[in-house]
Amino acid sequence: MTTSPNTKSADGDCSELAESRRKEAKRRSLRPVNEHFSSTINAESANSKQSLVKNSKGQNSRQTKATSQPHDSASTHVSGLSEYVDDRPEMQNELHCAVIYSTEAHARILSIDASECNTLDGFVDIITAADVHHNCWGPIFKDQPILAKDVVQYYGEIVAVVAAKTLAIAKLAAKRVKVCYEPLDCTMSIQEAISKRLFIGGERKIQRGDPYAKGPHQVTGKLIIQGADHFYLESNAVVVYPRENRLLEVHSSSQHPTETQHVVAEACGLAFSDVICIVKRLGGGFGGKESQAAPIAAYCALMAHKTNRPCRLILTKDDDMIITGKRNPFEIFYDCTFQDDGAIISLDAKLYSDAGAYADLSTAIMERAMLHCDNAYFIPNIFITGQVCKTNHHPHTAFRGFGGPKGVALIELIMEKIAIQISIDALNVRKRNMYRPSFDITHYGQRVENNMLPSLFESLEKECHYKARRKEISDWNRSHQSTIKGLSLTAVKFGISFTTRFLNQGNALVNIHRDGSVQVSTGAVEMGQGVNQRIATLVSSELGVPVDLVRMLSTSTERNANTSPTAASSGTDINGAAALKAIGLIKERLAKLAAILSKTPKEQWPSQTAGLGTAPEIELASPINPESKELKNKLDYECLFSDGQVIVRHHSSINTQPAFSIKFSDLVNEAYLSRISVCEYSHFKIENLGFNKITGQGQAFLYFTQGVAASEVEICRYTGDVKVRRVDILMDLGRPINEALDIGQVTGAFVQGMGWVTTENLVYNKKGLLLTHSPSTYKIPNIQDTPREFNVHLIDNDGNQANFKGTKAVGEPPLLLGISVWTAIQNALSSSPKHLQLEKIPATNEVILRAMHPDLGWTI
Ligand code: MTE
Ligand code: HPA
Ligand code: MOS
Repeated sequence: MTTSPNTKSADGDCSELAESRRKEAKRRSLRPVNEHFSSTINAESANSKQSLVKNSKGQNSRQTKATSQPHDSASTHVSGLSEYVDDRPEMQNELHCAVIYSTEAHARILSIDASECNTLDGFVDIITAADVHHNCWGPIFKDQPILAKDVVQYYGEIVAVVAAKTLAIAKLAAKRVKVCYEPLDCTMSIQEAISKRLFIGGERKIQRGDPYAKGPHQVTGKLIIQGADHFYLESNAVVVYPRENRLLEVHSSSQHPTETQHVVAEACGLAFSDVICIVKRLGGGFGGKESQAAPIAAYCALMAHKTNRPCRLILTKDDDMIITGKRNPFEIFYDCTFQDDGAIISLDAKLYSDAGAYADLSTAIMERAMLHCDNAYFIPNIFITGQVCKTNHHPHTAFRGFGGPKGVALIELIMEKIAIQISIDALNVRKRNMYRPSFDITHYGQRVENNMLPSLFESLEKECHYKARRKEISDWNRSHQSTIKGLSLTAVKFGISFTTRFLNQGNALVNIHRDGSVQVSTGAVEMGQGVNQRIATLVSSELGVPVDLVRMLSTSTERNANTSPTAASSGTDINGAAALKAIGLIKERLAKLAAILSKTPKEQWPSQTAGLGTAPEIELASPINPESKELKNKLDYECLFSDGQVIVRHHSSINTQPAFSIKFSDLVNEAYLSRISVCEYSHFKIENLGFNKITGQGQAFLYFTQGVAASEVEICRYTGDVKVRRVDILMDLGRPINEALDIGQVTGAFVQGMGWVTTENLVYNKKGLLLTHSPSTYKIPNIQDTPREFNVHLIDNDGNQANFKGTKAVGEPPLLLGISVWTAIQNALSSSPKHLQLEKIPATNEVILRAMHPDLGWTI
């Protein structure tokens, strides 16, 4: 939807227009995804209003009703009008860049010879490590060169960048650059790294209870978890314009504009203030562009800086997949003991991850994996270690869930194994162990507040007819030869906050213009998740204006400096709260002005007098803290911003005089004419976080987003092919801001998680070249693979006091519910008399087929 204030009707009244847009929004948001898809999408698409709604217990509760406004880019996406980096028109003297990357996993660079490029008409320049001012970067440890110098440490590491007048010439030039390597010893697996003691960072530990406590039963094993490609549709893209006086304007597909700004500046030898990084939107990031977009921007910026010409670098899908890191592979050794009824007594888990050649975010990812080994379950005695290993793969990086999925896959596998061993239903094992009153302290010492897990388990068990279907499935497996079925109900409890405390801050700039239209700029990057629409919804409901009057600006380090990446699902929490803080300050001034106007004859209003200066200017009393209840109580009026109006009621005349009402846009104009600012900038930080990385204890998260999923699969015994028959999801998102967008995130994340645990297979050759580097060889789920029946519901939960407006973040948590498809496959296989077990992610058709025919001697 376009949101131009120019589309206001002639008399300046926007309510009619807004109404027709609301109707259109409602119509679109109600379109079903497929015939089986059902959801609790709320038909109310009007702006959030204070209203009475029923919660799940049927009680009335006061809450801000969620809207289901469509994504603000929905219509421009489908009509092709959405602007991405590579849609920027080409400048007259623009150069196209191409990268030259290592074709060895580990080697010394003997020479780089570009002499053959010089004969190429249109070739302009080449840069190598020698051209980089500060050739070192890294989001946690600064251990990675921007351009490889002397040695390469992975296949795909960038060695040089060429620029030419056209893309075709740039690509040809890149081919003509001859790099000679002397191969060195390389390490291509976690096992090899362990034996050579090639580690990044020290071993981390989180423990609680008695390490010698043991139950009468035991499950042990080794879980192998492979990585996954992010498969964003827009590969990494950068356009850089050198402006006057060394200023570089960088348009990048980065989840972290501030880091991109910093890495570009350091690479070029500039001050941070000499670089502006602008991000309009991403065609998906999924964590893959959190850190790794920065050096890619630097390649292009270095060329622009050197040649003083606009430069463009757009990676092909294949190159992007070969060069950039994936979800970290993990190997986990576990030993879990439990009682006769399945209650866990102890868990000992040793986690190893493959970081690839450089640290990137791997140590933080390992930490989150360790913090999620409990998932939804109370484990009294627990001893977890984590060690990041260095190999010669591309540096692995953030991916939706950020380590969480690995910890959760482990404990959910253990639930299945316990169930098999003591012959009870795995759901009973889960319910026996779930966090519940008196058993609600995590292994890192944080209480699970607002714990919805018991009611989530109970509701979904009923709603998906778990017991009846369990019986049907057992009957099916006994009576059918060609396929077997499995059913599994797993949970997620995902910690919301960056575990690195200083990242939990944000800032926002809000400009209100004289026609009442609003611009908001924050550090949040729109990558499809709908952060812009969520923040716009919050702002519009707070100002009582239609959401279409709120325009979200591109993310720019020029307006919002020192921002955090849009990651850890916290985009709306951090940036939305900052925007609301700014709005609160503006509202305070507007309310005071409205109260004064209500007592001022209209002839003396600024709009009548300011031009000629015929009346004294309205002055506001010194600012008060809008958060202070004490001061609020002292105000002798109430002010409400609603339906495009600002309404003032004076306490003294509440029964004698009608309320004073003024149009929001008129009030803004009066404010301007009285020289009162209607723009504001605010900074926000999340309080009360206190996780100590050394002791592994403390308040790691602000709150937990929770959910449960029941997945049913059917597996062909002859091919190992998996069909996901039915999935039921119940999510707790507190009070959602936009239910339609949230349900989109839940379904998308689930399907992405499902792809990771089933078909997405990364195959490398011996040199670490990713062979599955295109859509034809790397199998993400398509529409045929999505669940045949897919029911997604949100529960009502007004109890999340930790976060503003009682909302809960949605971006990553539902990905971890995709694990239920994998445990359902495990469940299906365990129905065989041999109790077949996989212990490997992904469970591709091939892996399943081999597991189903152990007698044939195929190895997984
Ligand atoms: N949804 C879409 N459509 N595209 C994306 O790239 N990234 C995910 C999630 N949902 C992503 C997405 C990841 S990894 C995160 S951390 C969050 O969105 C980030 O945005 P948020 O903090 O605004 O939820
Ligand atoms: N999640 C995502 N990105 C991050 C985190 C995290 O917890 N910490 C640092 N970068
Ligand atoms: Mo998301 S993996 O935190 O970008």
